[in-house]
Amino acid sequence: MKNIRVAILGATGLVGQKILEVLVDRATPITDLVPLATDGQGRQITFGGRTIPVEPVEGMDWNRVDIAFFAASNDASARYAPLATKAGVTVVDKSSFFRMDPEVPLVVPEVNPSSIGDSLLIASPNCSTIQMVVALNPIRLRYGLRKVLVSTYQAVSGTGREAMATLRRESEEYLAGSQPEPSTYPSLIGFNVLPFCDRFGEMDYTGEEWKLTRETQKIFSQAIPVSATAVRVPVFVGHAEAVYVETEQPFEVSDIRALLSNAPSVKVVDDPAQGVVPTPLASADQDLVLVGRIRQDPFEPRGLHLFVVADNLRKGAATNAVQIIESLNSRF
Ligand SMILES: NC(=O)c1ccc[n+]([C@@H]2O[C@H](COP(=O)([O-])OP(=O)(O)OC[C@H]3O[C@@H](n4cnc5c(N)ncnc54)[C@H](OP(=O)(O)O)[C@@H]3O)[C@@H](O)[C@H]2O)c1
Repeated sequence: MKNIRVAILGATGLVGQKILEVLVDRATPITDLVPLATDGQGRQITFGGRTIPVEPVEGMDWNRVDIAFFAASNDASARYAPLATKAGVTVVDKSSFFRMDPEVPLVVPEVNPSSIGDSLLIASPNCSTIQMVVALNPIRLRYGLRKVLVSTYQAVSGTGREAMATLRRESEEYLAGSQPEPSTYPSLIGFNVLPFCDRFGEMDYTGEEWKLTRETQKIFSQAIPVSATAVRVPVFVGHAEAVYVETEQPFEVSDIRALLSNAPSVKVVDDPAQGVVPTPLASADQDLVLVGRIRQDPFEPRGLHLFVVADNLRKGAATNAVQIIESLNSRF
């Protein structure tokens, strides 16, 4: 990759800030960086020791950049992605707006990088989908997947920066002996567990749950039955998932462990005798998907249980987006 010019829409948000961090960590060769948000408001971001003013996205001349990361909102993606691609910009979109569009590739580089082809617009999946497919893909390729059941334990940072402040405020007020008022979520999240991460929809499953189903099927190009229960927990960063899979072919647990140990972007964290398990705190600020609690179902010989944890802002968002660009090395 030669020197590239990059815009980040949503540069002041949680994911936008993480993209800046990941670009520095991975030494992406950037000559120009244009941070965009709703408006500038005199705000600045820092990038690799430089301070750069935030610009309003409205009126952006997209010819100024080669690549744009979109980490704002569905509305913003719907409005500005067509303008950017029309100017020849490669757009990696973190919103859900284009994910299920059959014309738009939905990409996890460890799984389906070739689906990008020559598309200028590339969607990055939901955070909870990314970590699950990274963990399941090696098992799928070796043994086949018959069905997947997943229950998530999702951090509040998945809802954006305002939700982080809400969890902090509610927790402080609760510990101080007062009764906080819910704000970001319909019920309190401090010291609570909410068995929904999104609006309820078809068949009383939430949007987040359908994302796990439909995005997984699109990424795997396979209509694997995936049923999900997505739960919000009072954790700042790091989504956890209890995943049950039934395979097409019989397996040995020791083989699954070896397979996962050699899989890209996976780290096996699994030593029951020593109490070693993957946790959200251990997943934070790094890019690997941690997998533990690997065990066979006691009743179904082809049933396998896993606990899968990743930093939702890094591998679940920023890192996946930057890896997509890295996989297009020959384009730039
Ligand atoms: N958080 C996660 O774990 C996660 C994971 C995967 C995907 N995503 C997706 O990534 C996107 C960003 O999420 P986030 O958690 O970073 O949210 P966030 O912390 O609330 O930040 C949102 C950012 O987008 C900007 N923005 C919002 N609406 C805009 C508009 N109409 N025009 C221009 N800029 C606009 C905001 O700018 P202002 O400061 O000017 O308002 C801010 O910079 C969302 O689509 C989200 O669904 C998030």
